[in-house]
Amino acid sequence: MTDLQTPSPSSAPAAGAPAADTRPYSPGLEGVVAAESAIGLVDGANGRLLYRGYPIGQLVRHGSYAAVADLLWTGEWHPDVRMACAPLPLQVLRTLRELPSTTVPMDALRTAVSVWGASQQLAWPPTPEQARAITAFSPSALAAFGRLRRGLEPVDPDPSLDLVEGFLYQLNGDRPDAGTARALDAYFVVGAEHGLNASTFTARVITATRSDIASAVCGAIGALKGPLHGGAPSEVVDQLTRVGSAEHAEQWINEALDRGERLMGFGHRVYRAYDPRAAALRTVAESMDVRPKWLDLAIQVEDVALRILAERHPDRPLKTNVEYYAATVLQGVGLTPDLFPSTFALARHAGWTAHAIEQAAANKLIRPDMRYTGPQERDLPA
Ligand code: ACO
Repeated sequence: MTDLQTPSPSSAPAAGAPAADTRPYSPGLEGVVAAESAIGLVDGANGRLLYRGYPIGQLVRHGSYAAVADLLWTGEWHPDVRMACAPLPLQVLRTLRELPSTTVPMDALRTAVSVWGASQQLAWPPTPEQARAITAFSPSALAAFGRLRRGLEPVDPDPSLDLVEGFLYQLNGDRPDAGTARALDAYFVVGAEHGLNASTFTARVITATRSDIASAVCGAIGALKGPLHGGAPSEVVDQLTRVGSAEHAEQWINEALDRGERLMGFGHRVYRAYDPRAAALRTVAESMDVRPKWLDLAIQVEDVALRILAERHPDRPLKTNVEYYAATVLQGVGLTPDLFPSTFALARHAGWTAHAIEQAAANKLIRPDMRYTGPQERDLPA
């Protein structure tokens, strides 16, 4: 947490000017409590992540994405809840067909959500039914775009398949095996919610103006698209490719750190302990029927990286973060790295929409203040 900043003496106003603005200011709102929420707890010091009080590890082991999303929206645990992918409205399909094949998948998803919102009557306040509808829509949209850009026709959703299984079916044209579907479902559970991060805050700000849930999700996707937030699991894949082999890891890591580079998949702003999401995803990756290509190398490189980071930063715990094993799982279920951020966005729909519902239930327009640093009042040049 940064100290709240007060103005420096040099910024004191000249005689006759308004009094200096001495209210505290925290760049990036760091350390500012901007909401109360009963949805999730991110306990960075102890490496805990709870959804509605339940530890993420238990939810991954015993839950499904549908049940977890329902838990986030309603606060109730119904492990047998199901959710299938929804069919695409014609307007959405037409728009996706018009996009260049070079469109970034996050842009395609954001555009599809916007068109979807324009074709719905989305009353305020947002409801769990609206949350379910948009969460069931988006995987179909991303899968359709994933096919169109490869010159393939979209595949209609199969209502007998669960959301994550149905997403892979619509993307690839055939049903995934149970282990693959289960692994991606676990990834969705782990990615569903993570406190008042930038995209979730965006969703709450938009909802607080009494705008609709599709606008909130569009804005959230836009915020998540930025590399400082959406993370870069694909960069973990690049890193493992460059490391190449376990024998080469020590030398490669030391040389990278000597050049001032950061190891992708390590360190976190909030977690000082091992990221519980990374631990859950490592277990998932290890239990996949077909062992992911990168898994063994990832485990070996992780051991070396943790040891070297501890030696170099004895005072600052730098542990494995979620991106490290997310990359392994996403690659293991056959997704290409350019689909990683937008797949993360699909998973985060549950959290964004849960926060939209919670924000609306005790709504107050979010309107922070700012400290003016421009010129004092003056006349235009003659
Ligand atoms: N590799 C090497 N050194 C690191 C790493 C890393 N991954 N992370 C932090 N450090 C070092 C910094 O160099 C710095 O050292 P110094 O004090 O000697 O200058 C010290 O640790 C503190 O770094 P900060 O940037 O202040 O730490 P912060 O908590 O702000 O950073 C962040 C968090 C951005 C995630 C950082 O750990 C990082 O860049 N990690 C690599 C990228 C990554 O894995 N991103 C995914 C994060 S998870 C997510 O987004 C969902």
